[in-house]
Amino acid sequence: MHIHRTIAEIRQFVGQCRAAGQTVGLVPTMGYFHEGHLTLMREAKQKCDVVVVTLYVNPLQFGPKEDLAQYPRDFERDCTMARDVGVDAIFTPLDQEMYPQGFSTFVEVTGLTDILCGQSRPGHFRGVTTVVTKLFNIVAPDQAFFGQKDAQQALVIQRMVRDLNMNLEVVILPTVREHDGLAMSSRNVYLTEEQRRDALVLYRSLCAFRAAVQQGERDAGKLRGMMTDMITTVPGAQPDYVEILAVPDLQPLETLQGGIIAALAVRFGKTRLIDNVIMEV
Ligand code: PAF
Repeated sequence: MHIHRTIAEIRQFVGQCRAAGQTVGLVPTMGYFHEGHLTLMREAKQKCDVVVVTLYVNPLQFGPKEDLAQYPRDFERDCTMARDVGVDAIFTPLDQEMYPQGFSTFVEVTGLTDILCGQSRPGHFRGVTTVVTKLFNIVAPDQAFFGQKDAQQALVIQRMVRDLNMNLEVVILPTVREHDGLAMSSRNVYLTEEQRRDALVLYRSLCAFRAAVQQGERDAGKLRGMMTDMITTVPGAQPDYVEILAVPDLQPLETLQGGIIAALAVRFGKTRLIDNVIMEV
C-alpha cells in the first residue's frame, strides 16, 4: 500500500492507474478506522480496480469550540487496517498542503445545510463540501463511498455532485452498528461506560419509530414526541435535535409520505452522537 502526503504524489499514482486502464474508487475519511470505514473500503475494492483512502482531519469542518484537537488519531493502526482490506493508496496531506497561505475559495450547498447538523454546527457543511470537492479534484475518482450514518452529509454531497456536474458516482452504504445497535463512530471512544450504555437510546428510539411507522402511524408530531420522550427519560442524554423530514430535500413533514428520514443528534456529556433511519412509506 502506497502512502502519499502530497497532491503531486497522489496525482502521479492515480495517473499511472488510469494510464493502465484501471478504475479508481475513493473513500474519504478522517481516520481512526472502525468497521464502518472498512465496509466502505471493501465495497470500493469490489467495485473499482484501485482504492484510494484519504485520511485527513479537516480543520475547516470543525467549529472553534469543537473537538478538532482531541479527535482520535492512530495512523499506524489505520494503515494496518486499510492494508488488510486491500486498499491501494492512502493520501494523508498536511494542513498546508490542503489549505496553503491565502486559501480563500469555498464550496457551499445552500438550503439542505441550514437544518439538523448545519444548524447546530454552523460552517460544518461548508468545510465538508470544500474539502470533499478538493479531494474529488485531486483524486478524480470514478466512484466515491460514504456511510449513511452521516445521512445529511451524504445528501449534501449528492446534491453538490449533481449541481456542479461532478463526473463521479456517489455510493452510500448502510450504517454499520455494534452488536447492541450503537452506530459505529470514531467519536464513540469518548464515551464513558455509563454514557456508552445511555447512548443505546438512539437506536432504541429509532427502532420504536420504525415499528410505529410499520404499524401505520403517520403523524410526524406524535412520532417525534415519542422519540423525544424516550431520549429524555435517560438522565445523561441531552437531545440536540429529533427530526422527521422528507428525503432527499429535508423538508419538514406533518404526515409521513414517500421517502422519510428520522434523524437524531444527542449529547452524552461532551460527546454529540448522531444516528438516523431512512424509510419509504
Ligand atoms: O465523514 C467524514 O469523515 C468527513 O466529513 C469527510 C467526508 C471525510 C470530509 O472530511
